[in-house]
Order: sequence, then C-alpha cells, then structure tokens
Amino acid sequence: MSILVTGGAGYIGSHTCVELQQAGYDVVVLDNLSNASEKSLERVKALTGKEVTFYRGDILDRDILNEIMEKEKIDCCIHFAGLKAVGESVVKPWEYYNNNIAGTLTLVDVMRQHGCKNIIFSSSATVYGDPAQIPITEECPKGQCTNPYGWTKSMLEQILMDMQKADPEWNVILLRYFNPIGAHQSGTMGENPNGIPNNLMPYITQVAVGKLKELGVFGNDYDTPDGTGVRDYIHVVDLAKGHVKALKKIEENAGLSIYNLGTGHGYSVLDIVKNFEEATGVKIPYSIKPRRAGDIATCYCDPSKAERELGWKAEFRIREMCADSWRWQKNNPNGYED
Ligand code: NAD
Ligand code: WQD
Repeated sequence: MSILVTGGAGYIGSHTCVELQQAGYDVVVLDNLSNASEKSLERVKALTGKEVTFYRGDILDRDILNEIMEKEKIDCCIHFAGLKAVGESVVKPWEYYNNNIAGTLTLVDVMRQHGCKNIIFSSSATVYGDPAQIPITEECPKGQCTNPYGWTKSMLEQILMDMQKADPEWNVILLRYFNPIGAHQSGTMGENPNGIPNNLMPYITQVAVGKLKELGVFGNDYDTPDGTGVRDYIHVVDLAKGHVKALKKIEENAGLSIYNLGTGHGYSVLDIVKNFEEATGVKIPYSIKPRRAGDIATCYCDPSKAERELGWKAEFRIREMCADSWRWQKNNPNGYED
C-alpha cells in the first residue's frame, strides 16, 4: 500500500515514516519544508534502509497534488502538514487559516477526484478547549479554542466529518494528540524547532545543552498538586505507531472514528523538570514566571478507546521520553543543521 504523508519531513511525520516503512508500507512525502529539513528523511532512510519518495511542495498546490495522485497510486493520506505555533497564529491568523484550512480543502478535493477517500488527520487536544471533564474522553464536548491554530484543528475536524457524512465512501480518522515529546531512540531524529522553542520539552533540552540560560515556569498558582500546569506527555514513537494502527482501521472501511492519543497520565511542569534531571543527570535551572495567556491548568486523556478499537497503547514512560529527547539534543545541538 502506498501512503501519502503530508508534512512527513516534520517532527511527528518523520517518526511516522519510520514506523510505516517498518510495517511494510510504501511512503510518499509531500512537504514544503517551511518548518522542516529534508535531512530528516535521510535519517529515516538510514534507519529503515528504504527510500522515501519525496516531493517538495505545498498542499495548496493542485498541480503537485495531481502529479502525486497520478504517479504514486496513493491508497491513503496521513495528513500532518500544517502550521502549529500557537502564539504565531494569534499574530498571523490569515496565514494559519489559509495554510491549514485552504490547504486541507485543496488536498481532500484532489484526493476525491482521484478516488482516494481515506484520510488520517492530525488533530489535537486543543479542540477540547478548557476541558469539561478530566480525564478527557472522546465524548467530552469540544470547547472554545483560545487561538486561531486551535480553531483550524476544530474546524478541520468538522469539515472532514461533514464530508464523510455526505459521502460514506470516505474513511476519516481524527487523531487527537496530547503533548508529543521524545525522539527516536537512535538519537538521529527528533524535534527541530525554529528559534526559541515555545513548548516545554524542547525548551528544557536547550537549557540542558547550554543554548538557553534557564527555564521559565509559566505560573505556579494553578489548581494542581504543585501549582504548575499538568499535561499528558506522549512519546513521539508511540504516537507514530498509533498511525500504523489507524491505517489498519482504515483498511476495514471504518467510516468516521475519533481517538485520543495520550498516555492517560498527567505530569506537572516541575514533575517534568525532576524526571528530566533524574533521567539525564543534567540540572535544569528554572524560575517561576507569570501564567502564559491561553494556558489551562490540567489536560490529560482517557486513551482506552484507542486501546479497545485500535489495539494501541502508549508504551514509553516519562523517564524514557526525557532520556530520548536528551539523546537527540545532545547528539544534534543544532538539530538537522550541521
Ligand atoms: P512540524 O512543524 O514538525 O511538521 C509539520 C510539517 O508540515 C512541517 O514539516 C512543515 O514543513 C510542513 N508544512 C506546513 N505547511 C505545509 C504546506 N502548506 N504544504 C506542505 N507542507 C507543509 O509539526 P509536528 O509537531 O510534526 O506536527 C504535525 C501535525 O500534528 C501538525 O498538523 C500539528 O498541528 C499536529 N499536532 C502537533 C502537536 C505537537 O505538539 N507537536 C500536537 C497536536 C497536533
Ligand atoms: C506544557 C506546559 C506550559 C513552556 C501546546 C499546544 C497544543 C498542542 C501541544 C498542537 C504548560 C508549561 C511551557 C515553557 C512552561 N500542540 N511551559 N515553560 O501548551 O500544553 O500545548 O502543544 O496541537 O495545541 O497549545 O504545551 O509544551 O507549550 O506547555 O512552564 O517555556 O509547560 O505553561 O503548562 P501545551 P507546552
């Protein structure tokens, strides 16, 4: 089977390419490299021994999408391509709605014109807003997003659900990721943020490697055990494996399905600092800062639906996530740049 992986040179996409190839799928990547390096795909090949067919291009470009659909006989698309920086989306809402929404509308239109109606979409825990219940199940109502990025995910879920309802030949799986961290255990692939990281784990690893001075902890007065924000961190390789399981479900013509992909465990910011220090032996200096706008206190999921229906369960624990994030950063202080 031939799988189109949009955004496949990115963090989650590249790890998913490894798992797909190891499971025997042929992988075709479309990525405009706006937030990635082609080197990630060389690392995929080094790990699997298999070539990734790479198209450098944009999901907004019908010509390249037509070319791929014609040449590669795509059976299913795993759709990662999108802009994902929460703060930037507040400053550049048009760019986010255009890239993520118009891009996805273009992609699915070309797909259906070529008779390919199978898609796995990268959604996010952000669609729950400030969640109505903890742990969050898939039945938990979607909430108010605090930024345009979150709305693109929420709106795209609705668009894909409506399309599937109108044309049941579509198989649509919406995967709501919680907080992906970690890196491939080889230490050759990992997260490669541009500039100063927005997310907790890449910030910590850059403090550990000496690129940043100290971690700012955004608020210690939340209603959580130690006052700092609690999240459901999931190893990127577990997440990647979840996509292989979702593909099996697509092959059964499953219609529409929605799954939370998380571990079901919540860790605070200070828990992460402590686990990172214990896993790596590197001290992380930090200071308490004001709350970050738009943050919520607690977010972790009930992942049991994915276990029941996909046979998927996260296996890596928090120490392994920290150790693997660190191995990648230590071996590649500048990410994929030399
Ligand atoms: P990433 O930025 O590393 O990967 C996204 C990839 O898409 C990049 O390689 C980028 O170059 C590419 N891209 C962006 N716009 C494109 C376009 N118009 N055409 C072609 N390629 C384009 O991000 P990631 O962390 O790997 O996230 C992958 C997906 O998962 C995204 O849709 C993201 O919103 C979603 N997601 C991520 C997280 C997270 O915390 N990392 C959480 C939930 C959901
Ligand atoms: C985690 C915790 C921060 C940085 C974001 C997106 C979400 C999803 C995943 C895509 C929070 C605290 C962070 C720092 C800190 N992405 N923190 N100092 O905000 O849970 O989720 O990524 O869909 O949509 O919003 O992740 O890693 O930014 O923060 O104290 O320098 O760490 O306040 O409690 P978040 P995060």
